Amino acid sequence: MTAVEPGIARHYDISGLEQRILAALADTGVDVDHLRASDLETVDEFHIGGIAATRELLDQIGLIPGLRLLDIGSGVGGPARFAANNSGADVTGIDLTQSYVDIATSLSKRTGLADRTHFVQGSALDMPFADSSFDAAMILHVGMNLPDKRKLMSEAARVLRPGCVFAVYDVMRLKDGALTFPLPWASDETMSFVATPDDYRSAATAAGFSVTAERPRGAFAIEFFAAMRTRMAAAQAEGKKPPPGVGLVMGEDARTKIANLTAALEGGILAPVELILRLG
Ligand SMILES: C[S@@+](CC[C@H](N)C(=O)[O-])C[C@H]1O[C@@H](n2cnc3c(N)ncnc32)[C@H](O)[C@@H]1O
Repeated sequence: MTAVEPGIARHYDISGLEQRILAALADTGVDVDHLRASDLETVDEFHIGGIAATRELLDQIGLIPGLRLLDIGSGVGGPARFAANNSGADVTGIDLTQSYVDIATSLSKRTGLADRTHFVQGSALDMPFADSSFDAAMILHVGMNLPDKRKLMSEAARVLRPGCVFAVYDVMRLKDGALTFPLPWASDETMSFVATPDDYRSAATAAGFSVTAERPRGAFAIEFFAAMRTRMAAAQAEGKKPPPGVGLVMGEDARTKIANLTAALEGGILAPVELILRLG
């Protein structure tokens, strides 16, 4: 375990999160005793762009039934469930935060996906999997917490079969400029390891990957948060509770985290970037 990992896991660990998610959904009329994976979409996709971003990333992997997909930093399991539900892939998620692993497991049971999604606690930088045990891998908004991108890439290369795809969707640094904390992935600068696309590319090629596609998604990210603000303002104007969104998994200071991230996106300092890598 790296020195920063316990603090990062504490950053994400939010007390009573599963019950909060279920209560927020019940409030909007969802029958939480008969939950479908799609009911969770607004709250279990913990990255910019939500389900749309996951769908667009997965489209570039080419999933088929039975394919063994690894989700590195699987959070509360939204992307893993979406992949399993929509393609029949067999998805394994690994995450540092034990409570997220427990919630992901429970939400998969509640949505009837326990046989096709499995979640284990562990670090992306030292994964408890045998060599060549997966047919594809993805990572969504996790690299910002990983101090060593070369170790991430060498671990991904080790557990993938040659010729397989590793789809990356992380927040990256596009230019110099100070970041204001907290951000969704870090309470302070000691937990944040945002890197440039160049850093990712060179770590990937050193591990034996070739880059087959790259797409900066800054404008998409700015639109995502603008649409969220519009929904919140509309609810407020009607005297209603704001609709459940990704802020739920960010805890009490979600608004500050989102405002700080939006400022960095609008300043062109940060942007989510997709990188599609192929091993060998
Ligand atoms: C912003 S969330 C993204 C979760 C998920 N990928 C998604 O898009 O819904 C970042 C996740 O990375 C996990 N994480 C942070 N450092 C990690 C590490 N060293 N190894 C594995 N997971 C890690 C956190 O626990 C958290 O669940």
